[in-house]
Amino acid sequence: MRQRVAEPIRIAVLLSGAGSNLAALAAYVQHHADLRLDHVITDQPSAGGVARAQVLGIPTTVCPRADGQSRDEHDADVQAALSARTPDVVVLAGYMRILGADFVRAWHGKMLNVHPSLLPKYKGLHTYRRALADGERWHGSSVHFVTETLDGGPVIAQARVAVLGDETEDTLRARTQLAEHILYPLVVAAVARKHVVLARDGVTWHGTPLTEPLTPDELGHAAMQRHG
Ligand code: GRF
Repeated sequence: MRQRVAEPIRIAVLLSGAGSNLAALAAYVQHHADLRLDHVITDQPSAGGVARAQVLGIPTTVCPRADGQSRDEHDADVQAALSARTPDVVVLAGYMRILGADFVRAWHGKMLNVHPSLLPKYKGLHTYRRALADGERWHGSSVHFVTETLDGGPVIAQARVAVLGDETEDTLRARTQLAEHILYPLVVAAVARKHVVLARDGVTWHGTPLTEPLTPDELGHAAMQRHG
């Protein structure tokens, strides 16, 4: 008797920029048949990520914010586009708009963001510049569940990057993004497979409450053991 093959877990990506995280996710998903990059949504028609999505053959919806449109109205357009393909996980990858409370609540526990700092440090913009100005010895990238607090949702995992002596904003950005491109797909996969869950009291990892952010090593090792 032929075994029934489970449907892949569907992942939607919202982006506004270059889409390097989309490319990293696509490279990961290519080797993991249980996951599918199912939809890309952007508010920026000319974003590099749109061209990448097209090359990758991922259905893409462009939802620009029209002149005079309120944030709630724009959110509703994005929400309608997103819901039409019923994703299991929603991944913010350089999506440069602040989402309203209703939108965020609709995807509670299913929506992730990646932020280029070791949260709770340096929420908001210009994280590299601010970390260098403060003389930080470590920087990095965090992946968190999205809640109504900007860059303030429960952190799932972090990739740490040492700040070098002759560091500039550009070099720190480049190395942090390399680390982020390893980290984000691992976290997306862990949430998609329900190994990481946003529970009432915080984040759990294989059923155990997280007391500190996971590392790429912890995530990668567990993924290799379970999925090859
Ligand atoms: C990433 O560095 C991420 O940390 C931040 O926005 C950037 C998006 O880059 N939230 P890309 O569009 O994925 O290249």
